[in-house]
Amino acid sequence: MRGIFVTGTDTGIGKTVVSAVLMSRYREARYWKPIQTGSDDDTAEVQRLSGCARERVYDHGVRLPDPVSPHLAAQRANTRIDLRSLTGWIEDSPHAWIVEGAGGALVPINESGLMVHLMERLALPVVVATRTTLGTINHTLLTLEALRARRLTVAGVVMAGDPDADNRAAIERYGNVRVLGEMPRLDPLTPQAVAAWANTSLDPDGVLQEWLA
Ligand SMILES: Nc1ncnc2c1ncn2[C@@H]1O[C@H](COP(=O)(O)OP(=O)(O)OP(=O)(O)O)[C@@H](O)[C@H]1O
Ligand SMILES: [Mg+2]
Repeated sequence: MRGIFVTGTDTGIGKTVVSAVLMSRYREARYWKPIQTGSDDDTAEVQRLSGCARERVYDHGVRLPDPVSPHLAAQRANTRIDLRSLTGWIEDSPHAWIVEGAGGALVPINESGLMVHLMERLALPVVVATRTTLGTINHTLLTLEALRARRLTVAGVVMAGDPDADNRAAIERYGNVRVLGEMPRLDPLTPQAVAAWANTSLDPDGVLQEWLA
């Protein structure tokens, strides 16, 4: 399979908005949220914000009502998340996929599995959504280390929030990684604002084209 995996340094960091931006920019790509906990519907939000056709989102996977870590949400729902059965269908897909994780890289999925194991199974290059504010250097470098320890390819970082040139430079230097964009707060957060930013400011060198075009 082809595509990229979108993770983040935290929950609520901007993975869904970054996924929508990528869907808006790369018009052939498809979106999948394999594990969703809580009442948010990231799939619907990506469809709304990217303005994409219904067939470009695959709305199936583990859906658990409690807004907690997947391992715990599954336990509370008397079920267990099994990575093999979750991902089997996508391995032979001809499409380029944008797969959004839940939480960050080391979030537990079951009694021994972590989100990073899902990334390894899919073997996709990873885009990391990060904050721009104080603390982001540490969180971003920790995430990059966790991904590289699993021999995953890091495709780049997208920073979300008020741009901070010093934090961007530090992440690029100490993380040996490319920042593909600094996404400001879009207010209002509309499909038009997403498309405008996607087409003018995201991934100016088109490095994701290799995986998403
Ligand atoms: N650039 C932005 N402009 C305006 N609002 C944003 C932006 N990025 C993120 N948000 C808002 O911040 C909140 C968290 O963002 P988002 O849902 O993308 O995070 P997430 O990392 O996908 O969270 P989860 O771990 O729940 O999947 C949302 O309400 C979203 O609309
Ligand atoms: Mg999300």
